[in-house]
Amino acid sequence: MPVLTYKRVPYFKAYIHVLAIMPLVYLGLAIDADALGGDPVQAVIHFLGKGALNLLVLTLVISPLAKRYKEGLLISTRRLIGLYCFFYASLHLTAFAWLDLGWDIALLFQELVKRPYIWLGMIAFVILLLLALTSPMYVRRKMQRNWQKLHNLIYLAALLTPLHYYLSVKSGWIEPALYTVFMVFLLQLRRKKRD
Ligand code: HEM
Repeated sequence: MPVLTYKRVPYFKAYIHVLAIMPLVYLGLAIDADALGGDPVQAVIHFLGKGALNLLVLTLVISPLAKRYKEGLLISTRRLIGLYCFFYASLHLTAFAWLDLGWDIALLFQELVKRPYIWLGMIAFVILLLLALTSPMYVRRKMQRNWQKLHNLIYLAALLTPLHYYLSVKSGWIEPALYTVFMVFLLQLRRKKRD
């Protein structure tokens, strides 16, 4: 007997909203208290980037978890978590463009040459944007089989972001490597399901 019933889904989604917003409240309070260390701009960009990456992982584990524990309704929370991933990624990008570059487009081009990993982040972001725009049910119905094809791009985003992460850090490869291994594992699970 599944734990998540139709009646419980709205409450579960309410928890997800609270859990997804709480880190942003924490970040706001930390900024206000000047508690983000010597480089608060970098701290904000990192916090939001990690948040987006963790939510991407969460979006991808929902399907295997639902299958493993026979909790079919868990799938109904995937869109919400995916949209929060896009929201965090948008804030990450906004923080970079605003706090780091001061909305200076010329500076962005210089950064793209100096820091090529930003291209990877941009590709991942465009994928997340497309997935968010096509996530409503009526768009899904309209797109029919093309919807699944487009949404499979999430796995490309899942591989690009740990690489973006790895190339962005000056030292320390363990965490980005763990994310990559986990993403490849999830990709394998998906391939097995299709075979
Ligand atoms: C246009 C899109 C993007 C831009 C311009 C961008 C920019 C950046 C920059 C500048 C940094 C490094 C900050 C520094 O150390 O100097 C960074 C790090 C990072 N980004 Fe992005 N990013 C983008 C998209 C994404 C997306 C879509 C994700 C995740 C879904 C993501 C996740 C991360 C992570 C995890 C880090 C490392 C954070 C850490 O070191 O703790 N980024 N990004």
